Amino acid sequence: VIRTSPYPSGASIDSERLVLDIEAACSNVHRYTSHTPLIRAPYLDRLIRGEVHLKAECLQPTGSFKIRGALHAMSQLRASGQQDVVAFSSGNHGIGVAYAAHCLNMRATIVVPSDIPRAKLAKIRSLGADVVFYDRERESREAIATALCAHTEASIVKPYDDWDTIAGQGTCGVEIKEQLSLTPDSLLVCTGGGGFAAGTGTYLRRYYPELSIITAEPEGWDDHLQSFQVGKRSAAAATTASICDGLLAPEPGEITFVVNQHNRAQGMSASDDLVRRAMKLIWEQLGVGLEPSGAIGVASLLAQPERFSEQIVVITLSGGNVDRDRFDEALNLAR
Ligand SMILES: Cc1ncc(COP(=O)(O)O)c(C=O)c1O
Repeated sequence: VIRTSPYPSGASIDSERLVLDIEAACSNVHRYTSHTPLIRAPYLDRLIRGEVHLKAECLQPTGSFKIRGALHAMSQLRASGQQDVVAFSSGNHGIGVAYAAHCLNMRATIVVPSDIPRAKLAKIRSLGADVVFYDRERESREAIATALCAHTEASIVKPYDDWDTIAGQGTCGVEIKEQLSLTPDSLLVCTGGGGFAAGTGTYLRRYYPELSIITAEPEGWDDHLQSFQVGKRSAAAATTASICDGLLAPEPGEITFVVNQHNRAQGMSASDDLVRRAMKLIWEQLGVGLEPSGAIGVASLLAQPERFSEQIVVITLSGGNVDRDRFDEALNLAR
C-alpha cells in the first residue's frame, strides 16, 4: 500500500490547514520525543552582532529531528489498522521509523545505502527494525521499497515528500515559538528534500510573517537554491561528493517545494570545509556533537555572516549521528 497525499503535487497549499495539522501532530509526537533546548551561541552572536539561537534536534532520543515526521505519519497509519511499514532512508529517517515502530508496536523494514554510517545502522538495528541494503550508484531505493510492499500490506513512510511527515516535522516550529521570546528575522534549516523547512517554516511564518526561511545545503547539492531562483523544481549538479550524507537528495520534493516556495524560502549552501569548521566550533563552544548534515545551517552562517548582520537568527542543529572516527577526522581537518 503506497499512501498518497491528500494534497497532490502542483496543487496550491493551504497554509492554515498545515498549521492546524502541525498543532494536531503535537499529541502524536511529544509523547515520545524531547522538547530539545534552544541554545544560545555567544561566539556566533558576536560574529553577526546579533543573536543566534540553536535548536538542538541532535538531542532527540534518535539523534535527529526525523523522529517527528515518522511518529506522526505512522500514528495515522496505526490508527487506520496498519501494522507493517517500509522506509527508504540515508539513515536518520530510518532510525526515526524504527523508533516509531517500537513506540507504536509496529514492524518496520528500512532500505539503507550500503555505505550508511555505522552509528546509524547500529541504531536502526538496536530498535528492532529489519534492514535491506542498496547501492547508491546502481539501484533505486524507491523501487526496492515498492517491491518490498508489493506482496504485503505494508505502507511506505516517505522521508520528506508527504503531508503527514511535513506536519510532524513542523512540531519543531511549535517548540521554537514557545521557547523564543523575540521575533526572529531568519530561520536557517538543514535541508535535503525540504520537509523540515516546509513544516517548521510554515508554522513559524504563521506567527512571524516577515521571517526569512533559508534552506541550507551542501555545495554542489544546492537544488533548493537553484529551484527557488528559476521558480521550478530543478536538480543540482550533484557531481561532487559531500560529507553531509543525510543531505544528498538531488532535487526538492514535489509537495515540499510547493510549500517552501509559497513561504518565499531562499537557499544557501556551504562547503565541506565550513561544515567541518561548524562541527568543531559547536563542539568546542557548546560541547554538542553534530553530524555533518546537522552542521550545515551553522556552516551557512559562517559562509556569509554579513548577510545576517544584527539579526535574530534561529538555526537548526538537525542531527548528531556520526561515527566517532569521522567526527574526529572532521575536527582534525577543520580550518
Ligand atoms: C541530520 C539531517 N538534517 C537534515 C535533513 C534533511 O531533511 P529534509 O529531507 O526534511 O530536508 C536530514 C535528512 O535525512 C538529516 O538526516
